[in-house]
Amino acid sequence: MKVKKAIIPAAGLGTRLLPATKAVPKEMLPILDKPAIQYIVEEAVEAGIEEILIITSRGKEAIENHFDISYELERHLEEKNKQELLDIIKPINSLAKIYFIRQQAPKGLGHAIGIAKEFINNEPFAVLLGDDLFYHEQKNCLKSLIDIYEQEKKSVFALMKVPIEDVNKYGIISGKKVEENLYSIKSLIEKPSPMEAPTNLAVMGRYIFTSKIFEMIEETAPGKGGEIQITDAMNKLLAFQGMYGYIFDGKRYDTGNLLGYLKTIVEYGLRREDISGLFKDYLKEII
Ligand code: G1P
Repeated sequence: MKVKKAIIPAAGLGTRLLPATKAVPKEMLPILDKPAIQYIVEEAVEAGIEEILIITSRGKEAIENHFDISYELERHLEEKNKQELLDIIKPINSLAKIYFIRQQAPKGLGHAIGIAKEFINNEPFAVLLGDDLFYHEQKNCLKSLIDIYEQEKKSVFALMKVPIEDVNKYGIISGKKVEENLYSIKSLIEKPSPMEAPTNLAVMGRYIFTSKIFEMIEETAPGKGGEIQITDAMNKLLAFQGMYGYIFDGKRYDTGNLLGYLKTIVEYGLRREDISGLFKDYLKEII
């Protein structure tokens, strides 16, 4: 069965970017002139995803508005003959079939994914975390995972090597290297201390799951931070099905903290053809 559906959990409070995220969802913060979540939706669509369920929470209406038609804006731009701007905003509401559901209480990533059970309906599916942006000149991170899923028919997620002092920010795996960049997973641990961590291979925010993960989520008790962790449900899934971790060799940007957010904007700015020249000159001048 092909991977055609994706979940984007976007219910988090974004406390690391307060006060910017007091009234604006962190997923809507701009990376240049596009909100972060639009890059994620575009990555999913480019990877072949057709239907996306975005898990939101109270106060996140701006995300729904962004992927909806804006009649007033379109009419205004038509009247002013601003075709180039219409070409930018019109395609946003037809990128994919996008649905929304709310997570009513912050019970963790595992719980948020569990809400999508009916939407997924026994199909393999993708999960893309809103804080993580991936860049590679040729490769699409999610597409690489889908290709592995379609060959192996097993759950697979993105991995990256992190400095050992950072392992407590991620899910960490132990596993066996089976191919260049591909690990067969033995176990996972959520945000271990450097002493507890079996490796420095960290789970990044792109996953393909078989629908069996929903049974595992239902059996998962609150773990780290009192939340239902997807990492714990993945550990349970390992008792039934193998799972792979794929080291993505592109760049990953964590837009959910201040320094990460700033680095993302600078690097996206340096890659944006229409401004990169002037921006580079400016950076040289001030450093
Ligand atoms: C989540 C997952 C963690 C993963 C990380 C990747 O943590 O629980 O396993 O490594 O995303 O960004 P969060 O960043 O939501 O605390």
